[in-house]
Amino acid sequence: MTRAGTAANGTAGGTATARAFPNIALVKYWGKRDEAVMLPAAGSLSLTLDAYATTTAVTLDASAASDRFELNGEAQAGDRLRRVTRFLDLVRERSGSTARALVRSHNEAPTGAGLASSASGFAALATAASAAYGLPGDPASLSRLARRGSGSAARSIIPGVSVWHAGDGDETSFAEPVPAPEMRMVIVTVDERQKAISSREAMRLTALTSPFYPAWVASTEQSLEAMLEACRDGDFTRIGRITESHALRMHAVIQSADPPVRYLAPTSIAVFDAVSALRDRGVEAYATADAGPNVCVVVRPAEAEAVADELRGFGRVRVVGPGAGAELIDADPRLS
Ligand code: ADP
Ligand code: DP6
Ligand code: CO
Repeated sequence: MTRAGTAANGTAGGTATARAFPNIALVKYWGKRDEAVMLPAAGSLSLTLDAYATTTAVTLDASAASDRFELNGEAQAGDRLRRVTRFLDLVRERSGSTARALVRSHNEAPTGAGLASSASGFAALATAASAAYGLPGDPASLSRLARRGSGSAARSIIPGVSVWHAGDGDETSFAEPVPAPEMRMVIVTVDERQKAISSREAMRLTALTSPFYPAWVASTEQSLEAMLEACRDGDFTRIGRITESHALRMHAVIQSADPPVRYLAPTSIAVFDAVSALRDRGVEAYATADAGPNVCVVVRPAEAEAVADELRGFGRVRVVGPGAGAELIDADPRLS
């Protein structure tokens, strides 16, 4: 695996290009202890996927007055550009460079639809920018850096199942791999549109206004302990049960914010019901959803295709598995 700063690969012609995949949390991150440094209220655990990649190219431009950010071929302004510039400001501060950058990115997943585009997006950006500006390219450093762009991005640096330690400061808050049994996810895309309220804003609102928030944080810590034990034991059933109940608790605490936020659509609930009906028939499937209406169903590899067939009526269905961590790659023609 080529990492930032180790070789010419990924840095052709003054441009560093990286690819990262989204991750779907089995124990969710929802709430920050420190928003400036992006420390989560609790640890979390997820599966980095082998599909829906983000590819990002970073080209330094010493003569430019500001950063530019293109996403899926379109120049970005406003919040999206500001978020990239704030992230690059941190990279510049650490590298001692003042050069602005052209950032070109392509998301294969819909952006802002609860399929973790901020995770793949900032993991790819952290990896490419570290190579371009000469920052360390080891996984722990990249995970800490990616976290500053989007918390969930800390986990997309790591392949397969990973735990993001809450930590007690910048140095200790990063993700690392966790051995876990083989599993697949059936992704049911019910709506690709951008969510009405970003994860960042809704998380802030939940922490500030939900009377259930302290209980949610405490229950996440318990779920993470139980999940780590289940992964260690290779206990798929326990992993699945914790995943589904924990996801529903997250959506409950989000709905209890003031004003309330609801990410699950009627079709999302119908998928949860269909998954429950599958279990009644002896098929082990467990549903989860991030901050959006799209549902991810955790299954054993041997049952993935059969479960996908059962869920086709609810939306576009795709079977995914554990994927690679963020990596430098050769130039991507879609970004030229
Ligand atoms: P999601 O569920 O897709 O993670 P979020 O609300 O967490 O939704 O984040 C969406 C935001 O993440 C976008 O509006 C944009 O600011 C940022 N983002 C998404 N993709 C990229 C990318 N490839 N590069 C940089 N930033 C990105
Ligand atoms: C529901 O990482 O997108 O997907 O840190 O503010 O960028 P910011 O939020 P983000 O939140 C992810 C929330 C989640 C759960 C998870 O991925 O753990
Ligand atoms: Co996100």
